[in-house]
Amino acid sequence: MKLVVAASGGVAAIKTPALIRRLQEAGHELRVAATEAAFHFVTPLSLAVATGSEVFDQASWFKADGQARHIELARWADALVIAPATADALASAALGKADDVISALCIAGIKEIIWVPAMNTEMWQHPLVQNNVATLKGIGHHFLGPASGNLAAKGEAAGVGRMLEPEEIVAALPSLFKPKDLAGKHVLVSAGPTREYLDPVRFISNPSSGKMGYAVAEAALARGAKVTLVTGPSALTPPSGSELVKVESALEMLGALQTSFAQTDILVMTAAVADWRAKTVATEKQPKMGDEQTLELIRTPDILSTLKPLREKQIMVGFAMETDKGVERAADKASRKGLDFICLNYPTQEGTSFGGDDNQITVVRPDGNFEKLSRMSKRAIADIILDKALDLSS
Ligand code: C5P
Repeated sequence: MKLVVAASGGVAAIKTPALIRRLQEAGHELRVAATEAAFHFVTPLSLAVATGSEVFDQASWFKADGQARHIELARWADALVIAPATADALASAALGKADDVISALCIAGIKEIIWVPAMNTEMWQHPLVQNNVATLKGIGHHFLGPASGNLAAKGEAAGVGRMLEPEEIVAALPSLFKPKDLAGKHVLVSAGPTREYLDPVRFISNPSSGKMGYAVAEAALARGAKVTLVTGPSALTPPSGSELVKVESALEMLGALQTSFAQTDILVMTAAVADWRAKTVATEKQPKMGDEQTLELIRTPDILSTLKPLREKQIMVGFAMETDKGVERAADKASRKGLDFICLNYPTQEGTSFGGDDNQITVVRPDGNFEKLSRMSKRAIADIILDKALDLSS
């Protein structure tokens, strides 16, 4: 592909020359752009040497030679990769500004735009930044990361905001340019935990973040599907373009999934549904009484098993978290719950636990056949799940 790599003014710009080299090694043709602020961290010369071409910057933009460089580059490129992307670069682009080379390229007709953010955790999580991200996603821009890890600023605690490593960016790019092979399909995704209330302020739940389900919804949207995302409480920003149904309890989740199931082609059930709920939910907050309390619990309905008899054309995919006899148990679950396949994962593996960006799954079929996949980002896993579901779908 023909790529313009653009650096904005973050300390992670020191990695931009390495990214350029990795992209060239992967067979891409490269040009480079940089804002003035990027030059605080990386020199124009190192960017020019890495790409073997002139840097598109404020100085070359306004060379009196009659060239409209931003238009010329936008026409040449298949995609713009902004790495690192600062909060300021996101804000300028979300406003449609054109006073620096990156924001100008963004509105100059470039086909695909990929942001690789790098910033401090508070900044990344700030509602103004997240609004800009949602605006850009809403018009089809792609995002890679940020990841969790050690941040550059001195004394900064580890947190979300780290730019993906050049190798991770190179590996993730192909999945962004998937064909619209899910156009005309309706994908129903459940995500996050459920909350089973004991009284108005207490509940039984689990640490599910919703990341896997939101990644499936995002991947399905990128491939042209109509997506309904039924989500338990989650701090994540839902992918724009999906029909969002917010629920709390297992019973509410069941109701929402039953409503959409008949029109669904592919159901991906990533939700961590609580297994138990209180037999009676107190209408008032319960006072502390004595040193012991007995809770009477009853099972929540098994949502997949309830949907199984309603199944017509639907491809059904579940998730299973096991600590022991994984494949055997997962195959049994897939067959009991009427699934085409189940994605087995292990809560105890480092880096793939609740809330992480990566996962490592084994795809298990009801007949016991299985395929172990390597550890990768939840977004990459989402595409593999959708590939497999689409293979089975008529
Ligand atoms: O039985 P287990 O909870 O391990 O099964 C996990 C799979 O079943 C997941 O896909 C989960 O979303 C789904 N599930 C369900 N209803 C429940 C519990 C889990 O559909 N009450």
